[in-house]
Amino acid sequence: MLLKFPIPEPNRMKTYRIAVLAGDGVGPEVVHQALRVVRAAASQHQFDLELMEYPYGTEHWLKTEEILPDASFEEIQKADAIILGAFGDPRAPVGLIERGIIGRCRWDLDLYVNLRPIKLLDEKFCPLKGKSAADVDMLIVRENTEDVYVQKPTYQNQGTVDEIAEQSMRYTYAGTERIIRYAFEQAQARPRKHLTLIDKANAVRAQDLYTRVFAAIAEEFPAVETGHLYVDAACMRMIESPESIDTAVTTNLFGDIVTDLGAMLQGGMGVAASANLHPGKMGLFESVHGSFPQAAGKNIANPIATLNACVMMLDYFGEAAAAREIEGAVAHLLRGGGIRSLEVGVHKTDEIGDLILDQLAVGCE
Ligand code: IPM
Ligand code: MN
Repeated sequence: MLLKFPIPEPNRMKTYRIAVLAGDGVGPEVVHQALRVVRAAASQHQFDLELMEYPYGTEHWLKTEEILPDASFEEIQKADAIILGAFGDPRAPVGLIERGIIGRCRWDLDLYVNLRPIKLLDEKFCPLKGKSAADVDMLIVRENTEDVYVQKPTYQNQGTVDEIAEQSMRYTYAGTERIIRYAFEQAQARPRKHLTLIDKANAVRAQDLYTRVFAAIAEEFPAVETGHLYVDAACMRMIESPESIDTAVTTNLFGDIVTDLGAMLQGGMGVAASANLHPGKMGLFESVHGSFPQAAGKNIANPIATLNACVMMLDYFGEAAAAREIEGAVAHLLRGGGIRSLEVGVHKTDEIGDLILDQLAVGCE
């Protein structure tokens, strides 16, 4: 039978539902710029974003005493991914909002992987002498659901000279096994196939669990070369010979610390990104930097860190072409001088967004 009219193309547009919690300080402005860029890439690559935006953060808590209401938390779990801006503000008690939002998402959604790439794009952004982009290319795999972070502090004889404050470093076999296995898989997929275990098992003997599990899983990955550094030596090594580290796996607390150090090697907090993952279930994407309350609303924070986190989200969705395109535009601007500096205040937040959008458009001509 001849059809009189052409059959319309089925709508192949894929829509990703993203829960956005822009948060405190500079969070809203950097998230806004990052999402402008992601939207532009999406429209060029035939997918769409449906944003579910939430107002939580210190301002909301001050007004309502709500941190992250259960109903919203339920809803957020139905999204395809979560984007966080930044949390923390001196008007709230230390850690209240950070633990109540970032912590709750990481722990209650069991996002056990905190993936933090450290990749230098141009040597002018590295504070080390004589190191080039090829020397700084690491992937830190930070355990994200255990350790001292999730233990209750106790205070005996609080406020007296006999006070004893305690919060323990606690690791389970299951928690250790899954993060080390994930790190081996990541190391195996990278060209150098090298994995370093970072711990402090000489002083914190509980971390002998990491030592043993790492050795056992290494047997299953004969293609991956392994190494070990105590965390103090790892900090030294990252400065002295960053090229000696490829993939590294470490505990929650040490991962927090070494990734701030690593962020500086790639140009600072303006660019460092992270993915919090429960592989196959959920991904939460955020910058490594904090809320920088003094800069809030001043249009001076760098949105590239949040944008880099969004690039990790696109890879998580399998939108590799869009991810590479954004990555390419940012790399072009950083290497070619379109973005001269990553120091706060050199470029405006929205100016960086504009530059990247223009570059994306050029790339598509
Ligand atoms: C990070 C942050 C958090 C952490 C804070 C805000 C609790 O520093 O994501 O690195 O320590 O994990
Ligand atoms: Mn940190």
